[in-house]
Amino acid sequence: MQISFEEEQQVFHLYNDKISYVIQVEKQRYLKHCYYGKRIKRWHSGIKDYYYDRGFCANPIAEDRTFSLDTQLREFPESGQGDFRSPAYELEDRNGDKNARFFYNGYRILSGKIAPDGLPHVYTDADTEAMTLEITLQDKVRNQRILLYYTIYEDAVVTRFAKWINDGTEPIEICRFLSMNMDLPTQEYDVLTLSGAHTEEKNVYRRPLCADSVTIESSRGTSSPQATPFIGLLSPGTTEEQGEVLGVNLIYSGNFYGCVQCGQYGTTRVQLGINPFQFCWNLKPKEQFDTPEAVLVYSQEGLGGMSAIFHRLYRKRVCRGKFRDQERPVLLNSWEGMYFALSEEKLLGLADEAVKAGIELLVMDDGWFRGRNSDTTSLGDWVEDKEKFPNGIQDLAKKVREKGLEFGIWFEPEMISYESELYKQHSDWVIKSHCYSPIQSRNQLVLDLSNPKVCEYLTEAISEILKDGNITYVKWDMNRHLTDLGSTFLDRESQGELSHRYVLGLYSILEQLTESFPDVLFEGCSSGGGRFDAGMLYYMPQTWTSDNTDAVCRLKIQHGTSLLFPSISMGAHVSAVPNHQVGRTTSLETRYLVAAAGNLGYELDLKKLSQGELEQIKKQIVQYKRLRRTVQFGEYYRLADPFTENQAAWNFVSEDGKQVIFSHVQILARSAYRIPTLRLRGLDPKAEYKNTETKEVFGGDELMYAGITIPRVRQDFSGTMIVFEKI
Ligand code: GLA
Repeated sequence: MQISFEEEQQVFHLYNDKISYVIQVEKQRYLKHCYYGKRIKRWHSGIKDYYYDRGFCANPIAEDRTFSLDTQLREFPESGQGDFRSPAYELEDRNGDKNARFFYNGYRILSGKIAPDGLPHVYTDADTEAMTLEITLQDKVRNQRILLYYTIYEDAVVTRFAKWINDGTEPIEICRFLSMNMDLPTQEYDVLTLSGAHTEEKNVYRRPLCADSVTIESSRGTSSPQATPFIGLLSPGTTEEQGEVLGVNLIYSGNFYGCVQCGQYGTTRVQLGINPFQFCWNLKPKEQFDTPEAVLVYSQEGLGGMSAIFHRLYRKRVCRGKFRDQERPVLLNSWEGMYFALSEEKLLGLADEAVKAGIELLVMDDGWFRGRNSDTTSLGDWVEDKEKFPNGIQDLAKKVREKGLEFGIWFEPEMISYESELYKQHSDWVIKSHCYSPIQSRNQLVLDLSNPKVCEYLTEAISEILKDGNITYVKWDMNRHLTDLGSTFLDRESQGELSHRYVLGLYSILEQLTESFPDVLFEGCSSGGGRFDAGMLYYMPQTWTSDNTDAVCRLKIQHGTSLLFPSISMGAHVSAVPNHQVGRTTSLETRYLVAAAGNLGYELDLKKLSQGELEQIKKQIVQYKRLRRTVQFGEYYRLADPFTENQAAWNFVSEDGKQVIFSHVQILARSAYRIPTLRLRGLDPKAEYKNTETKEVFGGDELMYAGITIPRVRQDFSGTMIVFEKI
């Protein structure tokens, strides 16, 4: 990869074998976005036709009526100078003046990566993996600087973030400061977003962009199940394999805002960053503020190509720790099997069954701590319930481990119940308005993580439980959103910082815990996939994908999630039928097949199953252990789309190309059956592949070009899994 600066034209060119990103310093030192896409040799200002004298256009250079910011392709636009589109930043000074004039004032080209302070990011293992361009914008009147950082890697990826530095003598209020802005020349796009709800996370929505804006946002304190900090811009007609895609994702777990906005002359603005809603950062003299990092992926090979790049990057350069490269354990989670009715005896009984089935990790979910018999009490009191666990949980963990299982535990650290010891002692640790009593959700309140004391308390309470080393897995939950934004810890001027400080506090706790307990596998959760984002992946290499464990619903949820996130990061469990969320009954085979597309787990009371079902589960786990390297570290290809078709299908190819797993689910059976033909992807067309069950041998070319058909099954939700071995 390389970054060059061409003096004469004042052009920055970041490039590698795959992509080019070009920025130009133009008239009056404004920054122009020139190009992001397939690698070009050099930039010679082909796109310069944006200078016209147009109506209603402000002219920052009075004598040049062809130059108006509203018609330009901008790199990091402000407001107040005649660019009436959505700005990338806004400030307010002591006089209430919101106008800002930052101009280009120099650059540095640095080897390696520059990362935002205290925030998760794409990391490098060596400086040779990346190069960074730092561009300085300066407001000389107010003595403020904004540094824009662009890092290019070997893959088709550029990451961006911005830093604000107050060199002045007065505080400045940052009201808006996005991570990225990019204006694209006139072209048609489809906009793809991943939105949803609790138990319906990451639904795929795609629509042609014609005018106006598409905005996505969360103001809930987390990235949320309702929205995903991701925007896909697709050339019309883009498929899984073909078409141009620009994908932007934010590595952040809090409030975000993203927008795709059409300019009046057909240009397209893309933005992503912290949500300006209820955000106001009071930056004191000599202080700095960093935005979260945005990841910009470019693919010419359709959505599949984009996903492959995100998967590689997130698996290898966002996930950290020893579990990054380790196969993940098959787990049994107590939640849907027992809910709050836990006891030592029951869990030990479950452990015996789990061992017989081949499970590797027993997870004790909610209900284990003092007085927690329903979701109305006890959050914050992270000590075991003596009635349920008279010998303590360390003893239980030891006993479980003696049986040959790892032991894991559930926490919801960011929360507090009114009815808790913690609340009696520290009612001021709660996020609340200074004049109203806080709104409850699931009978709980949120702790104020902007307060370092709260973070310390949580780090200590959790460390206390983990320190004996018997517990090697933590499910970190977060089951409500933030209301009543207000902090007794922050001063008046800093109240608008609360939501972001909350996230920073959370990240600091996670940084400490993951560093102190490198042998503990952390799994993120927020009522399922409510905080399934790249920020959390930096600390926790896997996430509970959804509270919806129904195999059919999961087809869509996992399909949407897979656009960005690799299978190894997705928790997927086989649960009981009728399903607890939707009441649907699906076969054990189909439930397994769908869960086996991620980190396989079981979440049901094994004691309630028949001998036959237990035998079947045992076989599934044996098989999964043979396949999981491929599922967790191989390439993943979506072959059919459950959002638009009556089926879902996918295939994995192992890292060495020797194992191929093909899976298909028919959603509803039809009388007028249409025989689906599925074409596998990622195989070697010249090689031969053996169906490990029937021993039939197929050419890779046949499997990929002609495909395979799925014989008719007269049953809803029927699943087929075929494992091929390369000969
Ligand atoms: C959330 C999680 C569930 C379970 C419950 C426990 O809803 O997503 O998996 O842990 O909390 O209260």
